[in-house]
Amino acid sequence: MSKDLFSNIELAGHTLSNRMTMAPMTRNRAPDNIATAMMAEYYAQRAGAGLIITEGAQISEQAVGYPATPGIYTQAQLEGWKQVTDTVHAKGSRIFVQLWHCGRISHPDFHNGDLPVAPSAIKPAGDAFTYEGLKPFVTPRALETSEIPGIVDEYRHAAALAIEAGFDGVEIHAANGYLIDQFVRDGSNQRTDNYGGSLENRTRLLLEIVAAVGGEIGHDKVGVRISPANAFNDMSDSDPQATFNHVTAALSGLGLAYLHVVEVSMTGEADSDFDTGQLRERFDGIYIANGAYDQARAQEAIASSAADMVAFGVPFIANPDLPERFRLNAELNKADQATFYGGDEHGYTDYPPLEA
Ligand code: PHB
Repeated sequence: MSKDLFSNIELAGHTLSNRMTMAPMTRNRAPDNIATAMMAEYYAQRAGAGLIITEGAQISEQAVGYPATPGIYTQAQLEGWKQVTDTVHAKGSRIFVQLWHCGRISHPDFHNGDLPVAPSAIKPAGDAFTYEGLKPFVTPRALETSEIPGIVDEYRHAAALAIEAGFDGVEIHAANGYLIDQFVRDGSNQRTDNYGGSLENRTRLLLEIVAAVGGEIGHDKVGVRISPANAFNDMSDSDPQATFNHVTAALSGLGLAYLHVVEVSMTGEADSDFDTGQLRERFDGIYIANGAYDQARAQEAIASSAADMVAFGVPFIANPDLPERFRLNAELNKADQATFYGGDEHGYTDYPPLEA
């Protein structure tokens, strides 16, 4: 039977109405790190997606790295998110929250002057976005081995709150140069304990988090996002194909909800020769592809089984009714980059849907 973007698919015990995912995107509209009614409206407008993955939500105060990003570790944050899950469910979609620890992509301003933490004391090139504008990244503090179980437990706790808040599952953010990715890739990990060196060791933190979160809420409600070819946030690895083939094989067979792969580099440099097909082959569950897909490429990926679902980012910012527009081959709104990060409803909930 031929599949297309609009075919149903079973995920985390639910039948999704199509294979389009709204990709997680930071929008910096959560003052006090609490999700708002405006955010609930934004996500509900986009509930034509078979699955919504929220913007990253910090698992702890130490995990914060940007202004006005939501958290999921306090009761007040849980209450904020309930508005979001309620409105999205009322519109018939499913929603996962992305669990985020920024690691070294942060600044002491977010931590009462304390240093951000990382696998190793290696300063990333570039600047942090703080409440006072751009400030150069600092050299982070390398985590003590004894601190790691506490971080794993914070992921477990955040996942428990997520289910209480009504989410259908969680996505563990292991991509784009944030804490877990900093452990996985050797450009940012020079540890000599059980969490550095070999591939087994660099993958250990991710697998411990998956086990703790899966143990808490069920592995079928846990997705993982990776970005093997992404140099964003000053990331590098000496052998990305070997690293991410290993990571993917280790995640296979666990009964996870999905593997979500950012297939491009967000830095805009020439495409790498990374072969995502080798990941697809090594993972036994749902494979969500992401990275500059348009409708035609997405249809081709689904029809050829290169992917089971496709996640769209920027097109979902500008087109609340993106699935409907694809169905009708309608024109797309253009996204306004100036309103991506921070601000009010302008460029957020005021993109027009198609005329009735
Ligand atoms: C960003 O704010 O630019 C950002 C945040 C999280 C990501 C990627 C980019 O995973």
